[in-house]
Amino acid sequence: MDGRASTGIAGFDEMSKGGFPQNSVNFLTGDAGSGKTLFAMQFAVEGGRRGETTVYLTVNDMAESDTLVRVAEQYDIPLDEAVEKGLVNLYDYDALKDRTGQGLVDFDDLTRSIDTLLAPTDADRLIIDSVAGLGIAEDSINDVRRSMLRFIRRLRENDMTALLVTEMWDDRLTRYGVEEHVGDSLVVLGFEQKENQMDRSIHIRKMRFTDHDTSFRPIEITDEGMVVHNEGQVF
Ligand SMILES: Nc1ncnc2c1ncn2[C@@H]1O[C@H](COP(=O)(O)OP(=O)(O)OP(=O)(O)O)[C@@H](O)[C@H]1O
Ligand SMILES: [Mg+2]
Repeated sequence: MDGRASTGIAGFDEMSKGGFPQNSVNFLTGDAGSGKTLFAMQFAVEGGRRGETTVYLTVNDMAESDTLVRVAEQYDIPLDEAVEKGLVNLYDYDALKDRTGQGLVDFDDLTRSIDTLLAPTDADRLIIDSVAGLGIAEDSINDVRRSMLRFIRRLRENDMTALLVTEMWDDRLTRYGVEEHVGDSLVVLGFEQKENQMDRSIHIRKMRFTDHDTSFRPIEITDEGMVVHNEGQVF
């Protein structure tokens, strides 16, 4: 395991000793509005700043990747520049279907189409926001786990760092409860009520191949994006 994929979120890079280990498969989870898309967007733009190429696949209810450009416009995050330079390549469901000639519905479809998606850009980074819907058609959690594993194995054949967004579900950290087992890392964005306001936090639940901070650190969302106060304590 060589090198790090910096996230561009300074405090988080410190927590993880430089960012995600390169060529790893990482999950990011959190409740609605916890900042998952913002984190992913900053990760993509930071790649571009370092001359690395990102494929960013939007697979959620918003579905259209131009929504992401609209989201970025609220912040001083130059996503549009990175897109213009071809450093960040945005795809949504429909774009991917056009490209692969098949409807994308689950992890196995994605496993089959990943080469088509990645090859033209020789991507260094892959983001999928989110994978939470890709297992819902499976009959059992074991089937989800198997198809997710097949997908992750396929990702590992490429030289790139993947960031897969999932979501909290019921009392679980992740949508299927298996992401934290099959991935190399799980980063958790907390968004909880404290008295009359919502408090944001981040912690690294797991990260293979590296030492890392295990504390819950406060985060703030500002016009510059996500800021991690990695000297602060939440508990
Ligand atoms: N300019 C801003 N300054 C401060 N906070 C902001 C600003 N713009 C957005 N926010 C907050 O940041 C949150 C961004 O969340 P983001 O969309 O990244 O969350 P998410 O976890 O991806 O949510 P979802 O579950 O809907 O996908 C918004 O819900 C809002 O509360
Ligand atoms: Mg989101």
